Amino acid sequence: MSRKVCLITGATDGIGLITARELGKLGWTLALVSRNAQKGERVARELRQQCRNEEIYFKQADLSLQRDVRRVARDVAETYESLDILINNAGAIFWKEQKTAEGIEKTFALNHLNYFLLSNLLLDRLRSAPSARIINVASMAHRGVKIDLQDIENNKIYKKIRGGWIAYQRSKLANIMFSNALARRLEGESITCNSLHPGFVKTRFAKDNGGLFAALVSVGMTFGAISAEKGARTQIHLATSPEVEGISGKYFDLCKPKNPDAPALDEQAQELLWDVSESLTRNSQ
Ligand SMILES: NC(=O)c1ccc[n+]([C@@H]2O[C@H](COP(=O)([O-])OP(=O)(O)OC[C@H]3O[C@@H](n4cnc5c(N)ncnc54)[C@H](OP(=O)(O)O)[C@@H]3O)[C@@H](O)[C@H]2O)c1
Repeated sequence: MSRKVCLITGATDGIGLITARELGKLGWTLALVSRNAQKGERVARELRQQCRNEEIYFKQADLSLQRDVRRVARDVAETYESLDILINNAGAIFWKEQKTAEGIEKTFALNHLNYFLLSNLLLDRLRSAPSARIINVASMAHRGVKIDLQDIENNKIYKKIRGGWIAYQRSKLANIMFSNALARRLEGESITCNSLHPGFVKTRFAKDNGGLFAALVSVGMTFGAISAEKGARTQIHLATSPEVEGISGKYFDLCKPKNPDAPALDEQAQELLWDVSESLTRNSQ
């Protein structure tokens, strides 16, 4: 059997790193994408040793920037004839409002537009695989919010006290909506597309924010979170299990399909979000 080729974003820490380790042990060819080159090269080197697998490579990209998403997609398309698995996993919460160097609100840029653009840019390579899977890491944090197209970059919501959290919730809702809209477009093709909640997982998540917020998340993680090994299980299941072959447009939790909140299933809203995402990514270089 030929080696599967898998791209994992955010593979240098947390559940992405564990996922990379487990898929690396299967002998798959892995492209690990994250923003920090030094850390990324170290992680790739360590994984090559741990997994006894030389086919593990690091590719640097700040995925909140569309130019980096495009560069890494070009690199992958030039390096591999086909791509079997794409795991959109890199994500973060920004407690205070931030803009990327390209002028887009950072939560929306990293957590949603990155998934949207990278997946679309790699569709041809995914089509070249005998059967391919796109896996979008979302969150149960999507519950209780709706996408506000009038405030798609969260400018208004950031004026509220918990604005950073709500922006994150919206981005995770967007992950499921995008996943379902893409699955619909891929019907009848050899590519499936699903989203998932990994659980509340003890990782570096939120730590870059510093201050009281990061401290509170850290305390919560110490007492209430599962390990990164457990948190990675659902995405590893979606990447590897024959049970999910052909299953598409679902949201998974604890390795089982689960109903997301109603706004995630609103097809009209999904299509509106698709149109906005397309127009916000169309002209980037
Ligand atoms: N932890 C939880 O409880 C939880 C719950 C639900 C959903 N999730 C979701 O799970 C996913 C992974 O989270 P995690 O908990 O494993 O977080 P984590 O430990 O903070 O790891 C995040 C990974 O994403 C990378 N990353 C962050 N910003 C990036 C950027 N601008 N460009 C490229 N890579 C970037 C990081 O790279 P560096 O190593 O360079 O920082 C790291 O490899 C996220 O989508 C998150 O929303 C997490």
